[in-house]
Amino acid sequence: MNDKINQLNDLKDTAFTEIKNAQSLVSLDNVRVQFLGKKGKLTEFLRGLGNVDSVERPLIGKAVNDVKKSISDEIDRSFSVTKKLESEKKFHTEKIDYTLPGKVRSLGKAHPIAMVLDEALRIFSYMGFAIKEGPEIESEHYNFEALNIPKLHPARDMQDTFYVDEDILLRTHTSPVQIHVMEKCDPPLRIVAPGKVYRRDSDITHSPMFHQIEGFMIDTDVSFADLKGVLTTFLKELFGEDTALRFRPSFFPFTEPSAEVDITCVMCNGKGCRICKGTGWIEILGAGMIHPEVFKSVGYDYEKYTGFAFGIGVERIAMLKYRIGDIRLFFENDIRFLSQF
Ligand code: PHE
Repeated sequence: MNDKINQLNDLKDTAFTEIKNAQSLVSLDNVRVQFLGKKGKLTEFLRGLGNVDSVERPLIGKAVNDVKKSISDEIDRSFSVTKKLESEKKFHTEKIDYTLPGKVRSLGKAHPIAMVLDEALRIFSYMGFAIKEGPEIESEHYNFEALNIPKLHPARDMQDTFYVDEDILLRTHTSPVQIHVMEKCDPPLRIVAPGKVYRRDSDITHSPMFHQIEGFMIDTDVSFADLKGVLTTFLKELFGEDTALRFRPSFFPFTEPSAEVDITCVMCNGKGCRICKGTGWIEILGAGMIHPEVFKSVGYDYEKYTGFAFGIGVERIAMLKYRIGDIRLFFENDIRFLSQF
């Protein structure tokens, strides 16, 4: 029996030496596995007790448990000491430099054109207008003929565009959405149709692609006064309560009478400047009462229904609202420009 107890004490001594020599938490853990693990040295020792006398066995068993506990306690003690040392070492070697600038996470935001579009649509929604969209690739019928612009009509010159095919083109305005909606729905209608339009035009105030919002309202007794009311509410909401409106007679084949609408120049408040060419007014949109020929082309009873329509350039609004002199800035997507909004 003494033989076994001696063996056990040797094991304990070896374990304590190895614990002492262990430099890190990992090596301490290795010592634990090596001595106390399922296939560890103590388990092995217990297995070797098969031929020990049954009177002695409980005594040796108790001794084994005592040794197990003291090794385990010693490992725990050493573990907490080593842990403290390791974190102190880490603290000294991995210093944090509080003076370094932090990591800036930049937030994305809406494009200025999207912002103006959203705001405009919000105002029209409040006035009960529903939002509808139409295709950007159109037939001549929807873009021109149904809007009372027959082939060879001089008004087509104003809207020279990109042809995809003989009869298929990139729409030059959002007015074709009027036709699509009227074909599908009966009056009363109150619709705004935002979207991209295309023209062969390019300088600091014109871009080959730009955005428009088409608006129209059709019922049995819609008048020019309704048009004035809706546009006045919209433009005052967008540019401020002090904004004045001026309706100038104009011509569009799909409206009669037609008007171009001006607002007080946003740059000089109406005093006259370079932007408004000294007039104090700035043109903002085209509008008018829907032409009976348009109603005819969709099969509406033009004796029964009247309606108004208008078309606004979104870039133009954004340029005036944010005082931007060059339309191309909107499409270059220079982050220095975009982050100002
Ligand atoms: N479609 C016209 C344009 O793009 C604008 C407009 C729309 C005019 C509706 C009158 C009525 O120039």
